[in-house]
Amino acid sequence: MARKRVAVLISGRGSNMVALMEAAKDPGYPAEIALVISNEPAADGLKRATAAGIPTVVVDHRRFGKDREGFERALQHELEAHKIELVCLAGFMRILTPWFVKQWDGRLLNIHPALLPAFKGLNTHARALAAGVKEHGASVHLVVPEMDSGPIIAQAAVPVRDGDTEATLAARVLEVEHKIYPQALRLLAEGRVQMVGDRCLVDGRPVGSA
Ligand code: GRF
Repeated sequence: MARKRVAVLISGRGSNMVALMEAAKDPGYPAEIALVISNEPAADGLKRATAAGIPTVVVDHRRFGKDREGFERALQHELEAHKIELVCLAGFMRILTPWFVKQWDGRLLNIHPALLPAFKGLNTHARALAAGVKEHGASVHLVVPEMDSGPIIAQAAVPVRDGDTEATLAARVLEVEHKIYPQALRLLAEGRVQMVGDRCLVDGRPVGSA
């Protein structure tokens, strides 16, 4: 099967992007990272992608002022120019409009550092600690117009330990992020994910069932 051409969209350090690039080094992996786009010219992830020989593009949102769709049309132009088939958001800190999401319906993934539907939005680790939950984690989901709300493809939980700080909890969650993102992309690229209403079936079964 031909490997799917994937773009990773980042804004910062890009550790999830690196996890995807590492997975894609295996010739048996069904996707190749063909492009990295950052909206932040200074994103550390850009250097990491360049060092790995992956083409990078900066689309600085500031150039577009309040014209969100103008920014997204520039993203879309790059994605089409590079013949991208699937898009992974990995620490990409811009909210996408319904227009963009629709272009990539069923082909756009995001990773969120919480066990969705718990703790949508920002500062998830601080909020998990404040809420006193015993378990926290990460989710990979298909993107829909409503933020952090799309059908979940993969989730992993980690324990919250006594004495955890935001930093220790974030590090524990990041470790599982780096495992489930490549797994979820593999499932999508192999055509094993089916959207049924607001849920995903993987290999015909609801996510999380044995
Ligand atoms: C990750 O925690 C991811 O879940 C969230 O932003 C962070 C990005 O980290 N969306 P990195 O840039 O992949 O290292």
